[in-house]
Amino acid sequence: MSSYYELQIKINPEMEDIISDICFENLPCEGVVLAEETYKDLEMISTTEGTLRVFLNPQDCNSAAVSESHVKKVLSEQRELLKSRGFSDEELGSWEFVYSEKENEDWSKKWKEKWDVTHVSDRITVVPDWIEYTPEHEDEVIIKLEPGCAFGTGTHATTQLCMKAIEKYMPENADIADIGMGSGILAICAKKFGAKYVYGCDNDETVINVAKENAIKNNAVCEFELNTADKVKRQFDLVLANILHNVLAEIMGDLKAIMKDDAYMVLSGILDEKKSVVLDAIKKHNLELIEEMHQNQWVALVVRK
Ligand SMILES: C[S@@+](CC[C@H](N)C(=O)[O-])C[C@H]1O[C@@H](n2cnc3c(N)ncnc32)[C@H](O)[C@@H]1O
Repeated sequence: MSSYYELQIKINPEMEDIISDICFENLPCEGVVLAEETYKDLEMISTTEGTLRVFLNPQDCNSAAVSESHVKKVLSEQRELLKSRGFSDEELGSWEFVYSEKENEDWSKKWKEKWDVTHVSDRITVVPDWIEYTPEHEDEVIIKLEPGCAFGTGTHATTQLCMKAIEKYMPENADIADIGMGSGILAICAKKFGAKYVYGCDNDETVINVAKENAIKNNAVCEFELNTADKVKRQFDLVLANILHNVLAEIMGDLKAIMKDDAYMVLSGILDEKKSVVLDAIKKHNLELIEEMHQNQWVALVVRK
């Protein structure tokens, strides 16, 4: 099948991360773009409107996963869940949606048009592979990326928090592990900041080659493989894991096992309201909490063994 599906949802732009996350978790979603923001009243965020464009790829799924009735059901269930957690209709936006089938070419062109250079910090810049970019200063660390179908374009808060933590916590000559490397963005970032050895693994076989190609584009020597933390045999000075809160809690023991004594670990992918789940697991495994880093509704937890 050469078609993609585009879902356009009316949202409050403040909720972009949460709604994007819902789409990535519950639908065969390959990318999201916040298309427009109309401020009706600058004083009141609750009257802000935006349109989130969500691109769905049915290739690996049965067609039921992209049927309009399934999309409607997912959105309605998730909206009820958020409302039961205290979000009001005004905070959420209307979530009225338009659903349409698009040609493959159309999708890839539109996605590329929307994805621009991202300045993650004063030093870190992520540049789409097809854009010519001249560094603004000589200290700038530039990561060139073609994410393909892997998560990790550098625009998401959870990725950005990890990159900022690499800048702050990575020791010199460090051995690094990136568990759930997606596009390879964090591993490549660590290598560019001078890591000695960088290992990345993911449990999704479709991302391995994407990450390998991105490493080559960046002249970053990284070892990437299809694997999970429980099967990794060596230990590292810094472990990065940008996965969902429930997965982090479940594999905390495996993540701890691959940390050297006194090593740091960055746990990201955690919505503020889910922080306690990960904090409980940190406590249970006797890890020391060093810092909570926040961006939008997301938190990354930096811990030490
Ligand atoms: C949110 S993406 C993070 C990608 C990239 N590291 C970043 O920071 O942008 C999470 C990745 O973890 C992978 N993943 C999920 N559970 C995993 C597990 N138990 N072990 C290894 N990888 C996992 C997913 O396939 C996905 O590529």
